[in-house]
Amino acid sequence: MASSSSSSAYSAIRTPPLRFASKPSSDLSLFPSQTSRLFRRTRIPSLRSGDGPKNSSRIGGPITRSDRHRSRISVKSAQVMEPPMPRETSERVSTVVEVDLKDRSYPIYIGSGLLEEPDLLQRHVHGKRVLIVTNTTIAPLYLDKVIHALTHGNPNISVETVILPDGEKYKEMGTLMKVFDKAIETRLDRRSTFVALGGGVIGDMCGFAAAAFLRGVNFIQIPTTLMAQVDSSVGGKTGINHPLGKNLIGAFFQPQCVLIDTDTLNTLPDRELASGIGEVIKYGLIRDAEFFEWQEKNMHALLARDPSALVYAIKRSCENKAEVVSLDEKESGLRATLNLGHTFGHAIETGFGYGQWLHGEAVAAGMVMAVDMSYRLGWIDDSIVKRVLSILQQAKLPTAPPDVMTVEKFKASMAVDKKVADGLLRLILLKGPLGNCVFTGDYDRKALDETLHAFCK
Ligand SMILES: NC(=O)c1ccc[n+]([C@@H]2O[C@H](COP(=O)([O-])OP(=O)(O)OC[C@H]3O[C@@H](n4cnc5c(N)ncnc54)[C@H](O)[C@@H]3O)[C@@H](O)[C@H]2O)c1
Ligand SMILES: [Zn+2]
Repeated sequence: MASSSSSSAYSAIRTPPLRFASKPSSDLSLFPSQTSRLFRRTRIPSLRSGDGPKNSSRIGGPITRSDRHRSRISVKSAQVMEPPMPRETSERVSTVVEVDLKDRSYPIYIGSGLLEEPDLLQRHVHGKRVLIVTNTTIAPLYLDKVIHALTHGNPNISVETVILPDGEKYKEMGTLMKVFDKAIETRLDRRSTFVALGGGVIGDMCGFAAAAFLRGVNFIQIPTTLMAQVDSSVGGKTGINHPLGKNLIGAFFQPQCVLIDTDTLNTLPDRELASGIGEVIKYGLIRDAEFFEWQEKNMHALLARDPSALVYAIKRSCENKAEVVSLDEKESGLRATLNLGHTFGHAIETGFGYGQWLHGEAVAAGMVMAVDMSYRLGWIDDSIVKRVLSILQQAKLPTAPPDVMTVEKFKASMAVDKKVADGLLRLILLKGPLGNCVFTGDYDRKALDETLHAFCK
């Protein structure tokens, strides 16, 4: 049995915080040339090998490969929280973040009104057949708009749609089959493109269907929740739940592009918006202290759905995720740090029943527990604990698990967590100044027990 003290195989993986230029650079270029929209790209300097904390271990992979990979990371984006401009101009500013995965690299377009730019979507459609996967809530709101964007000026495209029932509980095999039924009944071929129109549930299911149908067809993500825009649509994790655990069946499968029209957030319920903000806060905590500070100052603007604040938060979240995914696509280490709070959070989601709490709500309570444990281990000071509580309260997110959660429920769920290896549960914990975390199984079990008892009845 591995013990906490002899777990050299599970030594801490420390994530380097993303370094941002303090000012946007001036390399302004028009993109894409075919559209009237102005995309402003600002190159953010790649991480250099010396940028991480001095005492950190390397982030997986041989040095040369890792260094080469890092130097090619190009995250391009616009500075959107900039001096006030006339509203008409500011609304036209959009941004593009690139996910660098060699031959599977793809752009994330972020901006308001992007669904009114047919060219953006059409350039990424392969073949002439498209299958839009959406649900009963989103279809009446955005399906026509997306069909128009796909077909406008392009009569050769034929579009099929499958409208699934809405809800996390439908992220399962039976519902997935409906996508395959439609694809097979309408004789879609290998050159078809699947389009996910919806939140994380639709994105995960459609992506998995695209990965499996005929052993893989192209797909495009059009995320319509903040959760999906800042997290689930980026990085290629697709899949469905099993009654015994979340996301246990799936595949890594990257999209052709992600198109984020921030206008879709205008119809999103407040609670769903807050759930997405949970993941935004996560990026600040694990690797981007400057972003966390920005959130502390701008939470009211995010909650009020200020378009510039939203675009900025989505952009910066996507940059962080894109960089982590570029460095560790298949989650050999660094990518696991994106799961801060998720081990506790998944336990809440399973223990409480899928759909009772939203994913971001469960993650928020989970982050508080991970932060509490980090503090008990002596790895962070109490100012971080206070700031985390305060920002989550500002975002109107839960800061403790629901009453039904017992220590036993947490332990039962944690035993089947994907981060258990050889019987040892590895966790993402904060360590050092704000914006630093570790993924490790090397911690005092007493701290975990104390945290569980402190948060459960
Ligand atoms: N693949 C990944 O890397 C990853 C990362 C994070 C989360 N996830 C998964 O994502 C899922 C959660 O995603 P979610 O929070 O987007 O939930 P969701 O997909 O269930 O969407 C939330 C609700 O909002 C509705 N909705 C979506 N867009 C809307 C809009 N624009 N206006 C009005 N209503 C709208 C949906 O119909 C649904 O009722 C979970 O299954 C989680 O496991 C995956
Ligand atoms: Zn999550």
